[in-house]
Amino acid sequence: MAKIHQTFICQACGAVYNRWRGRCEACNGWNTIVEETPGGSGPQSGPAATRPGRARGRVFPLEGLTGEAREAPRIPSGIGELDRVTGGGFVRGSVILLGGDPGIGKSTLLMQASAAMAKTGERVAYISGEEAVGQVRLRAERLGLSGHPVELAAETNVEDIVETLSQGRPPALAIIDSIQTMWTETVESAPGTVTQVRSSAQSLIRFAKTKGTAVILVGHVTKDGQIAGPRVVEHMVDAVASFEGDQGHHFRILRAVKNRFGPTDEIGVFEMTDMGLAEVPNPSALFLAGRDHQAAGTAVFAGMEGTRPLLVEIQALVAPSSLGMPRRAVVGWDPNRLSMVLAVLEAHGGIRLGTHDVYLNVAGGLRISEPAADLAVAAALVSSLSSAVLPPETVYFGEIGLSGAIRPVAQAGARLKEAQKLGFAKAMTPQGRGETVDRAFATESLRHIADLVAGIAANGPRRVGSGKRRHAAHDEDED
Ligand code: TYD
Ligand code: MG
Repeated sequence: MAKIHQTFICQACGAVYNRWRGRCEACNGWNTIVEETPGGSGPQSGPAATRPGRARGRVFPLEGLTGEAREAPRIPSGIGELDRVTGGGFVRGSVILLGGDPGIGKSTLLMQASAAMAKTGERVAYISGEEAVGQVRLRAERLGLSGHPVELAAETNVEDIVETLSQGRPPALAIIDSIQTMWTETVESAPGTVTQVRSSAQSLIRFAKTKGTAVILVGHVTKDGQIAGPRVVEHMVDAVASFEGDQGHHFRILRAVKNRFGPTDEIGVFEMTDMGLAEVPNPSALFLAGRDHQAAGTAVFAGMEGTRPLLVEIQALVAPSSLGMPRRAVVGWDPNRLSMVLAVLEAHGGIRLGTHDVYLNVAGGLRISEPAADLAVAAALVSSLSSAVLPPETVYFGEIGLSGAIRPVAQAGARLKEAQKLGFAKAMTPQGRGETVDRAFATESLRHIADLVAGIAANGPRRVGSGKRRHAAHDEDED
């Protein structure tokens, strides 16, 4: 009889070791390695696959590329913003992993989607491993969804769940809330361990593929934003979506991280109300609500999220520092990017920020990652430093290069259109390739960061010092 080897598995990334260690070499996590009993990570690796009696495999038919082209049949969820992220509805037989911080609204979103779909006559099952049936009912009641024919259960055993859902007409949609609470009898590890999560996910994925049910697995997220434990599950599922937001703000963003059947850069925007999540079809208006037109240090950035333009307010505060090492604090943007913009402003804009604290905030709690925000950030910083209020009807976009040059960005036309739609009259942009815009809408193209500094300084109550001079020098260079 072969000796049973114990394995040690990192609970954060799934790396396997043959002895315990304090730190995982794969993901650098401390104390993440746990001893687990091997086996059961699917029928292929179990004892069945190596059974001596089964020397030959089953013959299956191989098919050509031509033939019946089957368009992935989709089932719309009935929630427009959710369908936008999935690419037009759930694909039958596909598995989606939905991650997000606790309390962000995953269960609420999925209950609303389940109810909307059940209303259309599809069979929908909601399996909660975290809450009792009574609690889930209470939430449905609060959302005004009690009348919808969603099939509900509080269960955690995967074999029981698969057996139950296999009875009768297969459900169109099955929600598993959450994958970390599921356990299967095929492995001995405790629920929540990587081996359990992986095996449970595998069983549920097999169920989805054989029955044509769209399965949504809810996954918890660790402090640093990783979907905990089931990082390994990310590779097994068809789509990974994350539900983001700030506990202090009302809106939530659903973002596709991976999608085998649709785009990955789309976002869905929701607002958490006391009647559950409400769709936000025009997010720019929401993000610009409550804007203070009279304040220095704010600039409106015309951004893009996937195919959708999104206007957001960038707020900067530049204040003299009493510290030897001035503070740089950023919310909603990349701190490295801020350091770069600050360095370029110093080197090529003639602005001295070395003795100033700098705070940058993307209003509303949105997180943006586009380099196109550089110009709006620079404008907000210069505006704050010089106490010069930026013209309120102007939007900014453009990437700033290390030389101080303002570089073109993609989809300028869509950004300008959105700005005009929301009542803006002007855009400060990189030198474009002649984007077609309405005559009523002015665009001013900037070539260099010094142009921006000089423009703001000219309007401001206080000159930005050498910015003007640098601009003059720059102009001479150009001539
Ligand atoms: P929940 O869906 O339970 O979050 P998750 O499943 O991601 O852990 O959402 C819980 C939060 O949502 C809770 O803080 C209360 C809030 N909420 C509302 O504001 N309005 C509502 O109608 C509901 C149902 C929840
Ligand atoms: Mg929940």
